[in-house]
Amino acid sequence: MNRKSIMPIKVLILDDEIDFTNEISDYLQNSGFVPFAANTTQDGYAILSKNEIDLLILDVRLPGANGLDILKNVKSLYPNVEVIMVSAHGDMDTVIQSVRFGAFDYLRKPLRYIDIQIAIERTQKYLHMQQKLAQIEEKYSLITNEIESKIGRHCIGKSAKIIEIYELAKKAAEYEDISVLITGESGTGKEIFAKIIHYMSKKKNNYFGAVNCSAIPDSLIESEFFGHKKGSFTGAISDKKGLFEICDDGTLFLDEIADMPFNLQSKILRAIEEKEITRIGDTKPIHPRFRLIAATNCDLHKMVDEKKFRLDLLHRLNTLHIHIPPLRERPEDIAPLLIDFTEEFSQKINKPIEYIADEVFELLEKYSFPGNIRELRNLTERAIILSESKSLEVKDFPLSSIGSPKRKKDYTGVNLKTNEVELIRKTLEDCDFNQTMVSEVLGISRYALIRKMQKYNIDIIKKDARHSS
Ligand SMILES: Nc1ncnc2c1ncn2[C@@H]1O[C@H](COP(=O)(O)OP(=O)(O)OP(=O)(O)O)[C@@H](O)[C@H]1O
Ligand SMILES: [Mg+2]
Repeated sequence: MNRKSIMPIKVLILDDEIDFTNEISDYLQNSGFVPFAANTTQDGYAILSKNEIDLLILDVRLPGANGLDILKNVKSLYPNVEVIMVSAHGDMDTVIQSVRFGAFDYLRKPLRYIDIQIAIERTQKYLHMQQKLAQIEEKYSLITNEIESKIGRHCIGKSAKIIEIYELAKKAAEYEDISVLITGESGTGKEIFAKIIHYMSKKKNNYFGAVNCSAIPDSLIESEFFGHKKGSFTGAISDKKGLFEICDDGTLFLDEIADMPFNLQSKILRAIEEKEITRIGDTKPIHPRFRLIAATNCDLHKMVDEKKFRLDLLHRLNTLHIHIPPLRERPEDIAPLLIDFTEEFSQKINKPIEYIADEVFELLEKYSFPGNIRELRNLTERAIILSESKSLEVKDFPLSSIGSPKRKKDYTGVNLKTNEVELIRKTLEDCDFNQTMVSEVLGISRYALIRKMQKYNIDIIKKDARHSS
């Protein structure tokens, strides 16, 4: 997929009659094409060299030049340009020759609008087909259609970093029993890669169970993981399988592993090491065979130093470590992601977008994306809703109101947790402590934001202090 693929078709009319080129240009302009007019061969070549023309409407007879020679030349210099020949005399020989030299169609003068329209629509259909083919070939989706359909969306990227990560994920898929730790800031795609590993592995037809460790209340966590026997505690009204058992022969994805209560970490470690668990209230051990993938945006080594995470569990999880860098460190991925999200949302909300202004790519490539890919996705959806035309312009991406682009150096040299705290503080300031806006920028729910603020002791105050200073 490339940027050009979603732009309107550019048509060059090369004819010595100025009235004719003007008239056709107006007609094309009103029909949603981008017209260019040239009345001499020289001007025609100049336009072809500076603009990515899709379609050339070429008069067979130009003063001092033979249309067929121009056709041959254009096809060899610009093989992607389609040509419609215009002949004044309906001269069959010329028509046959021009088709032989690669003309897509021909028209006879005097031209009728309806003929031009039919010819251009036919060419347009052909060009769209070509563009679709090019999109399929060039699509920066890293995964196959089969996995794409399983994980619910495609995984886009063309940077060396994301390709390297994809290769690591493939390796992880090959060794179906090793544990994998995926780290990266919020919204970088940790869950997508966990699913890719599962669906590329031999376990793909078995269960992929995702559990967010911060979402289960401490009182229930043990029974959620290990299951229980009926009557083993108040509320255990029937036998219940735990997550390890449910994911037998499949993959258990432990998201936000840093939030796993310390006292449970040793039990989880034992379950992973021995692949043996016992339901609460039961005596009979069971032996589920699951692969564990854990993810976090915290620095687990630091948490080990702070005695909040067990070193032995970290070593166990870390058999293979995949770190997904933030989007700002791989700006090459922004354009393909933006194009992909634009196509997705314009289809979803039935609002065709045919063009994305170059300035939008430039703006986004400079932006720091604190909320990473999730933020880009949200920004794109909002831009499409805001857009009043068939194109996306800089004004549709009001980055300044949600925090101005930040310099890279603001984020380097800090570990993941400090980074997160920093990020939340900075974004709070940028958004004037409006939590709804902050959660939108960071791409997390307001509830998750509040939870993180509580976890890191980040004050909600400041507003008055700022105003009084
Ligand atoms: N390479 C990618 N191509 C396309 N979409 C992506 C890619 N990476 C992430 N996304 C999209 O970005 C969003 C966030 O991805 P995901 O949930 O996997 O991130 P995460 O790292 O698990 O975030 P969190 O830490 O907040 O849980 C999702 O909508 C996902 O589909
Ligand atoms: Mg996640």
